[in-house]
Amino acid sequence: MGRAAFVLGVVVLMRFVAEALDNGLALKPTMGWLHWERFMCNTDCEADPDNCISERLFMQMADVMVKEGWKEAGYEYVCIDDCWPSKQRDAQGRLQADPKRFPSGIKKLADYVHSKGLKLGIYADLGYQTCGKYPGSLGHHEIDAQTFADWDVDLLKYDGCYLDWTLVGEGYKNMSRALNKTGKSILYSCEWPLYVWPYAKPDYTAIRETCNHWRNYDDVSDSWSSIKSILDWSAKHQDDIVPSAGPGGWNDPDMLVIGNFGLSHAQQESQMALWAIMAAPLIMSNDLRDICPRSKALLQNKRIIAISQDPLGKQGYQTFKENDFAVWERQLSGDRHAIAVMNTQEIGGPRKFLLGVAPGWKLCNPKCNVTLILPKYQELGVVPVQTDLMLPVNPSGTTLLTFTSLNTSQN
Ligand code: GAL
Repeated sequence: MGRAAFVLGVVVLMRFVAEALDNGLALKPTMGWLHWERFMCNTDCEADPDNCISERLFMQMADVMVKEGWKEAGYEYVCIDDCWPSKQRDAQGRLQADPKRFPSGIKKLADYVHSKGLKLGIYADLGYQTCGKYPGSLGHHEIDAQTFADWDVDLLKYDGCYLDWTLVGEGYKNMSRALNKTGKSILYSCEWPLYVWPYAKPDYTAIRETCNHWRNYDDVSDSWSSIKSILDWSAKHQDDIVPSAGPGGWNDPDMLVIGNFGLSHAQQESQMALWAIMAAPLIMSNDLRDICPRSKALLQNKRIIAISQDPLGKQGYQTFKENDFAVWERQLSGDRHAIAVMNTQEIGGPRKFLLGVAPGWKLCNPKCNVTLILPKYQELGVVPVQTDLMLPVNPSGTTLLTFTSLNTSQN
């Protein structure tokens, strides 16, 4: 059994290190869908028409997002990743979509996505080519920003392949300025720190002033080892990264892979809970046309989404790690607090974690209201201080709760 009697007591207030990029966007972590992890660089529309990177894929995803409750749950951006363009720029030097796979062009696709009440995202790279070896934006960032604005694109994921790391910062700033100059609000998703970390500590003040979210670490894949490595990295570097998150700018631990092949249901619950605690963008990469009902219910769980989208906009972090348990906490608005308890032991059945509601917890002194969200919803009711909560936690799963203060004098 694990025990933590001091959680909530260790929560310290951290200040933002900088102002956010002032484009009025991403006041809450972005929610949407992105093709990369699930569909990668599949360009073979002849052999695999249903899964290749084509306008059809994004139109179908937009249709499903409206029909199957995704839009209503908050998922808003339908995003194209790498491998969309033609290998050649047009006669005016502009990027153009591959004519076979996107016969109607990106502007028409944006119109279609907008007609569904959704937004369209696109991908480019600051180097001389993209990671998938499509044309890069080096020397073309102004014309590319203007092209995306002319197409009515709403989000740009800007990658950092194929450029010396010392030039990456300038590259990200240049595109940020170019997007701003178009006069259109385009959410700006960066990978700046990911390309700097191998050589130096990234400048999170500048990153937050430049980008709406930023990838810090490796690409997610459809496996528990990938999710674990992202969580380990985030906990290890939390003093560096957590203070820079807040309305307008967020740390991006990469896509949600829930609904694919590699994670057990308990592991999917861990990804969803921890991404909400980390105030991470909730950008799914899966096949929404064919997803199992349990994964769908998890991704659309309104109580978890409410934690993710909490208006206070404070990123949570790990506060306890012992005896194969890890506890993560996030301060929420309205005298509320979320706690995620993860069982990192990958053998056996559910293990009990004893959460002691200690006198030091201002939030629950003299009492608070506790709601269990994962593994199932249950109102645990009013809990006075000095109560021990016994929480079963599934192997590689997460038990998620919220605590609401009933102490009226507290603020
Ligand atoms: C990687 C990036 C991935 C994906 C891929 C496309 O560098 O981190 O998320 O965009 O490039 O080639």
